[in-house]
Amino acid sequence: MSMLLIFILCAFIRAHEATPKQCFSNLFPFGVASAAFQTEGAWNVSGKGESIWDRYTHEHPELVFDHNNADVATDSYHKYEDDVKIAKQLGVTFYRFSISWPRILPTGLRNKINEDGLKYYHNVIDALLRENIVPVVTMYHWDLPQSLQDLGGWTNPTIAEYYVDYARVLFENYGHKVNTWLTFNEPLSFCHDGYGGYDAPGSRSSGFEDYLCGHNVLRAHGMTFRMFQREFSHLKASVGITLDLSWLEPATTSADDQEAAETARQFRFGWFSHPILSKEGDYPRVMRESIDRNSKRQGFFRSRLPSFTPEEVDMIKNSYHFLGLNHYTTYLVSKGSGKISTKPSFDDDMGVKISQNPSWPKTNSTWLRVVPWGFRKTLNWVKNSFNNPLLIITENGVPFEAGLQDVKRVNYIEAYLRSLHDAIYKDGCNVFGYTYWSLMDNYEWMRGYSERFGLFEVDYKSSNLTRSARLSAAFYSTVARTKCIPDNFNYYNYDVTK
Ligand code: NOJ
Repeated sequence: MSMLLIFILCAFIRAHEATPKQCFSNLFPFGVASAAFQTEGAWNVSGKGESIWDRYTHEHPELVFDHNNADVATDSYHKYEDDVKIAKQLGVTFYRFSISWPRILPTGLRNKINEDGLKYYHNVIDALLRENIVPVVTMYHWDLPQSLQDLGGWTNPTIAEYYVDYARVLFENYGHKVNTWLTFNEPLSFCHDGYGGYDAPGSRSSGFEDYLCGHNVLRAHGMTFRMFQREFSHLKASVGITLDLSWLEPATTSADDQEAAETARQFRFGWFSHPILSKEGDYPRVMRESIDRNSKRQGFFRSRLPSFTPEEVDMIKNSYHFLGLNHYTTYLVSKGSGKISTKPSFDDDMGVKISQNPSWPKTNSTWLRVVPWGFRKTLNWVKNSFNNPLLIITENGVPFEAGLQDVKRVNYIEAYLRSLHDAIYKDGCNVFGYTYWSLMDNYEWMRGYSERFGLFEVDYKSSNLTRSARLSAAFYSTVARTKCIPDNFNYYNYDVTK
């Protein structure tokens, strides 16, 4: 059944259901997620092309926290059946995974389709379907073919057409089996941190290439959605995009800080959501005005933020069936100094100060503190800003130290689910699914294997990369099966393998 249908059914049931304890509707889908580069390994096996993350982590191991690469990762290319088995153990409704563009099109272009690559994802999808687990496919989770980066990657406008060609290959080959698609995962991350920061491809020109990247990603997304409508509407599938929004809370109650927080939300989320979800389309006004103004002050002849044609604004506006939302943590925002340097930067354009409250509980990550109330605020802000769009939480999760008795992760999931429950049942936010990141520990980009987000622990020292259920797997499995947040979860007597 299409996820969209499930969503609509959920809406109906929700409207007619009282929720005495914290239970979600019977059809509310719980899932788990992963991504190709972080799990597959087999980086140069069976005709796969090189990705920008292969190149970057091979050339710059010193930039990765633990100096590791993802050549093997969790070896899911060979162990996908094990992954499906543990997802099945959890009792989840769906599994969100991504397809590696260079595994399907090694040159990035449609001149050569890698049959082994196509076969691999058929195998994954078929294994999921056999277990009644719905495949939710992300078409792009950051692993751009290196050959396209050599042409400028996401800063080259023609990439939007190449992306549409790639997306068409996916719809043609998997469209009869997959009915929930996400075009992109977190463009803020791969444009801001990749083209404007220290992630692959490591171009590092903040305030310039990040905006070019965002512009072409938005065009590619809109063009793909329209291509889907024109050529594949008979498939009855749903196409969305995953955006990430950490909650941005004003640091104080002052009007300046309130305004600064809203500006930060527009720069970090509105950048991608406003062109797609708002009534008027195009970039948020505050972004347009600030970047135009700063570009002028820095002596540029034209704005560093490119402009859409009116046709592009229309094409991108409303190009979604549902929104995917990733949410992990919260930041505090206060008014910036108003100074800008002669060298462009996204941060100067945004013009605010961002911090975290040191009293918020820490995790094993550099940026993620546990702030469950921020989840509810995020969802309400999206609801109020964009007319309550249909959305699915495509990621939420937390890294803690290795070990199976991960009580802290259980507490995180429980607290965030309660916040989500309030957002849905008290505030009426249109959320129709929740995804825990991640099914198992995996390669966490520039943090290597040092940050473990998994419900299942991966023993990187064992020859077969053993996956073992953590306590959080038992907890999440209870939620996925009962659709309720357990009031008294029995921490020590639950066997997830049953
Ligand atoms: C967002 C990204 O989509 C995913 O790849 C990453 O591992 C998680 N956040 C955790 O940082």
